Amino acid sequence: MTSDVIPEGVGRTAIGVARVRALESARTDRLFEDPYAAAFVAAALDGPPPAPRTDVSPAMILLAHHLVIRTRFFDDYLTAAGRAGCTQVVVPAAGLDTRAFRLDWPAGTKVFELDMPAVLGFKERVLAEQGAQAPVARTTIAVDLREDWAGPLVEAGFDPAARTVWLVEGLLVYLGAEEAAALLDTIDSLSAPGSRLALTHGSKDRRRAGASQVVAGAEHAAELAPLVAMWRGGLDEDPVGWLARRGWRAERHDRAELAVGYGRPADYVTSQRSLVTAER
Ligand SMILES: C[S@@+](CC[C@H](N)C(=O)[O-])C[C@H]1O[C@@H](n2cnc3c(N)ncnc32)[C@H](O)[C@@H]1O
Repeated sequence: MTSDVIPEGVGRTAIGVARVRALESARTDRLFEDPYAAAFVAAALDGPPPAPRTDVSPAMILLAHHLVIRTRFFDDYLTAAGRAGCTQVVVPAAGLDTRAFRLDWPAGTKVFELDMPAVLGFKERVLAEQGAQAPVARTTIAVDLREDWAGPLVEAGFDPAARTVWLVEGLLVYLGAEEAAALLDTIDSLSAPGSRLALTHGSKDRRRAGASQVVAGAEHAAELAPLVAMWRGGLDEDPVGWLARRGWRAERHDRAELAVGYGRPADYVTSQRSLVTAER
């Protein structure tokens, strides 16, 4: 595979997430198994995934562990939402997320994945090479989420009257405050009663309520500098309050408590309530 088909810029962050998921999937005590993560990494590197490094900074380790915990948490959240009657799953900024393939969905579930054209082009190419077959109706929508994406989503068959579960994982920090609010406004306007929402919230500004320790730690790690340079901060207020004003019952979840519940050591991740779920 040549480099011109490999996502660059913010799209490349999806490959970093896949790398972490590939490493986790290879553990005997894995918290999830992503059967395509290693193939994405290999395709992006044009070779087999490198062995795990031993010279990784604490900030990088914290970020990787955070990604593992949030992946497992959202796996469980989406599975429960599907069983509770959310027949549509929408993943803005899906990146190389393979939940449409690997989670246990009720019959009739529809999954919509949105991301940049280069990311989805790369993803579909690798999935096709792997012979991946989604057990549900899966639709990809190539869009810039700072522009109109509700129109293309509805044109692709999304039904605003049906109960939906939304997953906004690892996106908001790459948007400005107004862009993040606009995206959540669109989600709000497309959510029928009984819909659910899960998101990650990590402000770039450590002085602000809800600022993420992953974000703060990464600012001190040189190897993460290219990533940090792309962070714009996302929503400039606590999403729980923002959602409550629009009729959502939202709550934050502490990743350290989740990690312990999954059997990981107490110091696996630092305490941070950066995972938010909501229901209306
Ligand atoms: C860190 S990755 C997370 C991917 C996925 N949610 C996951 O957790 O595996 C961030 C993703 O956001 C996407 N993204 C960022 N800004 C975007 C925009 N304006 N429009 C569409 N996608 C965007 C990137 O292309 C990338 O796939």
